[in-house]
Amino acid sequence: MNLAPSLLSADFANLRADAQSVESLADRFHWDVMDGLFVPNLTFGPPIVNALRPHLAKPFDIHLMIDRPATYIPRFQVAPDDTLIFHIEASDPPEASILAIREAGCRAGICARPGTSWDAIEPYLDHVSYVLVMSVEPGFGGQSFLPDSLDRIRELRRRIGDREIEIAVDGGIGPQNARDVVEAGADTLVAGSAIFRAPDRLEAMRAIREAGEDSG
Ligand code: DX5
Ligand code: ZN
Repeated sequence: MNLAPSLLSADFANLRADAQSVESLADRFHWDVMDGLFVPNLTFGPPIVNALRPHLAKPFDIHLMIDRPATYIPRFQVAPDDTLIFHIEASDPPEASILAIREAGCRAGICARPGTSWDAIEPYLDHVSYVLVMSVEPGFGGQSFLPDSLDRIRELRRRIGDREIEIAVDGGIGPQNARDVVEAGADTLVAGSAIFRAPDRLEAMRAIREAGEDSG
């Protein structure tokens, strides 16, 4: 099981130090890019993510909650192990986003809102390395995990079959549900508030990992 702290819940005045404070137990860093159009919130974009890239060794998963993702993908300076993740509901044709990610030189990821059928992403499964399952409505940290997500993860796992695709789950994850989420078929757990709002971040990460790995 991989654990990806979501920097949305970090202290933006100390982004570099906050990211480094959890790096020893992080497998990947999760970056929530929001544009105020695709979701009703604004965060950060390429200048900030690119500025942090040289200061962190773990791979970046860049979750683009933005419209017109293909336009902005070339502005991210990524390494081959990083992932750029676009939403299937965004306005650019998915083919254009996948091509732009390939040209950027990293892994391609696709994401769907909780209410979007897997039928929408199935045609692209042969062209991505990663699927991000939203277990809350995208836009804000600190929301409650939507229980239907467990069935959605199982269904996605079934549709992926023996293709080598990482399933990551994002939203409302903590020690209380890590086991169920991994048992349903997740490879990677994204967690923001459960890590950054905890009194001891590394202890919180150990608790999530222990719960997740308990599922065997
Ligand atoms: C929500 C973001 C998530 C968010 C998760 O739109 O995509 O990555 O940071 O935060 P928590 O873990 O607090 O639900
Ligand atoms: Zn996210």
